[in-house]
Amino acid sequence: MASVPSLASSVEQRVSDALASALPEAGAADPLLRRSDRADFQANGILALAKKAKANPRELAATVLEGLDKSGVIKEVEVSGPGFLNITVSDEAIIRTLAARAADDRLGVPLNGSAGTTVIDYAQPNVAKEMHVGHLRSAVIGAAMVEILEFTGEKVIRRHHIGDWGTQFGMLIQYLLEHPHELDHKGGDEEASGEEAMSNLNRLYKASRALFDSDEEFKTRARARVVDLQAGDPRTLELWQRFVDESKIYFYSVFNKLDMDIQDPDVVGESGYNDMLVETCKLLEESGVAVRSNGALCVFFDEYKGPDGNPTPLIVQKSDGGFGYAATDLSAIRNRVTDLAATSLIYVVDARQSLHFKMVFETARRAGWLNDGVKAVQLAFGTVLGKDGKPFKTREGETVRLVDLLDEAVERATAVVREKAEKVGLTEAEIVENGQYVGIGAVKYADLSTSAARDYKFDLDQMVSLNGDTSVYLQYAYARIRSIMRNAGDRKPVAHPELELAPAERALGLHLDGFGALIEEAAADYAPHKLAAYLYQLSSLYTTFYADCPVLKADTPEQVENRLFLCDLTARTLSKGMALLGIRTPEKL
Ligand code: ARG
Repeated sequence: MASVPSLASSVEQRVSDALASALPEAGAADPLLRRSDRADFQANGILALAKKAKANPRELAATVLEGLDKSGVIKEVEVSGPGFLNITVSDEAIIRTLAARAADDRLGVPLNGSAGTTVIDYAQPNVAKEMHVGHLRSAVIGAAMVEILEFTGEKVIRRHHIGDWGTQFGMLIQYLLEHPHELDHKGGDEEASGEEAMSNLNRLYKASRALFDSDEEFKTRARARVVDLQAGDPRTLELWQRFVDESKIYFYSVFNKLDMDIQDPDVVGESGYNDMLVETCKLLEESGVAVRSNGALCVFFDEYKGPDGNPTPLIVQKSDGGFGYAATDLSAIRNRVTDLAATSLIYVVDARQSLHFKMVFETARRAGWLNDGVKAVQLAFGTVLGKDGKPFKTREGETVRLVDLLDEAVERATAVVREKAEKVGLTEAEIVENGQYVGIGAVKYADLSTSAARDYKFDLDQMVSLNGDTSVYLQYAYARIRSIMRNAGDRKPVAHPELELAPAERALGLHLDGFGALIEEAAADYAPHKLAAYLYQLSSLYTTFYADCPVLKADTPEQVENRLFLCDLTARTLSKGMALLGIRTPEKL
């Protein structure tokens, strides 16, 4: 089905047509139509256009009003203030438009006419290391962006740039070589759990580190092992692969807990670009983009200086010949733009890596690997803080294990679900399942409901609270609607444009009308928090509607049907929006 224009866009089109005939020289000027408290919409753009054309704004507004096509859509319009138009739409137009959108599987959300290919780099933990809250943010924000972009018609390629290469592997591999059973699974390979994998890796990491720090001879052997690894020695690579595989068991168990679908072919870690590193450096050096400085291959920037005032270069190759993080990222850009044909690159990475990405992007531009046809953006996120406002740590000052956090969230959520379980009629299995949906949803929503760039406090009490801007509040709104639908019996949702609407119905209806535009904005701005805010407002407007407007006990059968229609569209919009954020909406809660 072709997309259905929203009521807001029809009104905007009419104002802009009237504006064009009132002031032909303005061309296709934007009337800046916004939702307003005083009427349904306010056109704010006339003022500035009048000034530009040296016309009287109120007179221009009056002329636009005269020429405005009001038929079937606009009920009232008046000039207000220095030259605004206040526009009220008819009840009929609201329901008619919503009905057309409800008939569409995509809820009338338009596809982006100029969609391209986005490669998104997110959910990138490090091999042989525990996942922490920073990896949570990248995974949750990235997954939401993937869904939102795909919904607009963008082709999205996922890349999980896991840290699977580097000098630390010398020590790990050497230790495993000398203690060959350290990564064995007690119950056999079939039984291996994420917990066991991580505890094996942790134990091995600590033991090898201790030996590396205390035993000079081991240190020498570990360093030689790095050389073997880089030279591609088969036995060394085989052991390296065991670390990667073991870590993946662990990563997948965490992603699974997070209710996230990560596909193996999309896991292309740092090592995936090894074959390109030499060439990347060669191209940079030959083109003069990078220069040798004390043996290292560096790219210099006027604008990036260290505290001492000396320029901070991007080091592509170290003086000992080793390649670093930057060489890998530059090679990844070549791969993503050339081989994957990306038109946009998004990196969902901690804000503390911003300088790295600025330098990498600028280097890639100088080298011509990024051109005007390709956009490269770091979707930088802030730090997760503890209740004390400091970076989130355990009481012992260690980084908090992501799994522990998720388990605790699910535990708390299950308690909340259990309290109401009897009233709602949930089985034990449903309590357990809902506990997961609510707990994981709470963690994701807390992360997604503030703009990514900001820090936020990890506060489980607040996250699973039934009141306020939380996912459970949204999930309850959804479940309440579903319960009304179940109780409706043979009364069905049917739109009745002929009915007069109560204020709460109009407010809900007009907000529903904005879903398509909101999705477009969240996609264009890489801002999942805007979707979260929209859904929260939708739930609040629904709560008001629910309090003011009896649904099944409404005055007439038509009114029952029309209210069921609003309920149904609200539920579908909520559930679609939550799904885009990676959050489930249980039918009963
Ligand atoms: N593994 C890195 C970390 O844990 C994040 C990787 C980000 N992506 C990239 N292309 N550099 O901090």
